[in-house]
Amino acid sequence: MYVIKMKGIILHGGHGTRLRPLTHTGPKQLLPIANKPMSQYCIESIKGAGITEIAIIIGGLGANKVRDYYGNGENFGVNLTYIEQDEPRGIAHAIRLCKEFINNEKFLVFLGDNIIQRPITDFIDNFTKSGYDATVLLCEVDNPSRFGIADIENKKIAKITEKPKKPTSNLAVTGIYLLTPLIFEIIDNLKPSWRNELEITDALDNLLKQNDNIGYEIITDYWKDTGTPEDILNANRQVLEHICTRPSTVIIDESSKDWIGLKGHCIIGKNCKIDKSATIGPHVSIGDNTIISSDVVIENSIIMSGCKIDGGLNIKDSIISANCHLHGNNKDKTKKIFLLGEGTKISL
Ligand code: DAU
Repeated sequence: MYVIKMKGIILHGGHGTRLRPLTHTGPKQLLPIANKPMSQYCIESIKGAGITEIAIIIGGLGANKVRDYYGNGENFGVNLTYIEQDEPRGIAHAIRLCKEFINNEKFLVFLGDNIIQRPITDFIDNFTKSGYDATVLLCEVDNPSRFGIADIENKKIAKITEKPKKPTSNLAVTGIYLLTPLIFEIIDNLKPSWRNELEITDALDNLLKQNDNIGYEIITDYWKDTGTPEDILNANRQVLEHICTRPSTVIIDESSKDWIGLKGHCIIGKNCKIDKSATIGPHVSIGDNTIISSDVVIENSIIMSGCKIDGGLNIKDSIISANCHLHGNNKDKTKKIFLLGEGTKISL
């Protein structure tokens, strides 16, 4: 295995308020995309670049669920250190908590709700060889006012602004940052923003003003900040298209195989029972131990583990958390959209 000395940090804290009710019972970064927690894709990306020493910032609701799932990291081929953040006081605050862990080396920060499809090895190699104080990865977006935005002039970053009301560029600063320990000094002199957070964007902009020495790379492949249910469904589609090599491909755990008749671009977990008259897909992920009864139709959705769906329900564009029971009335065949927190019971 290719291993490099650089360390990584994954941000797994925050309250996940924008994704309620999905996040009432756990951190958003553990929500599944194609049956795998979104933060596991971060670990795989970082490990794929040869970094195996990783700190995970945890805090708030369900922090223990993160420890329970990842443990010391050995099942994932990495070595994990957990660092607790008492309150979500900002991305820069979370990074500052890692000063001792990082020591005096260049390092990588990955926001646990960011998904990137391409390997990040070359970005890291370029940064390691460069003399930059930081390198940011940028990606063109349609809705720049939702992100930190970088203005580029003469192939150099001129300004970085957090969620500008009137964006002057559509290049979002993604949640993958390559940094040097200099950032800790900058963060120590940072003032909280209007949302009372220590913003990484302000830290980077201050660093830029101080030394004018920040590099950038542009991601032209798939990248997503999974901030909304639509973003999560989009990432689910993208990952399913990537792992199901042909449109007709369905990935089914062996223990679920007996019961199934489905369309393509789907993933089905362990011990599921899916009636042959159900129509599942395209772009559907179903977690373990879920039962889908006759005549149910599901497209473009995430159904988590332990769910029961019956009564001929017709579901699209939905995210249904673990242990939900949904009973249709076998008459109403109009397409329904659900966004359900864990344990919800619905009878129509
Ligand atoms: O995804 C890219 C965007 O991420 C950037 O373009 C923005 O400049 C940057 O501020 C950030 O914006 P968000 O508003 O999306 O950040 P959010 O509050 O969602 O936090 C990002 C991740 O960091 C999320 O996984 C939760 C975690 N987090 C956040 C805060 C504020 C922590 O672990 N601790 C914190 O204190």
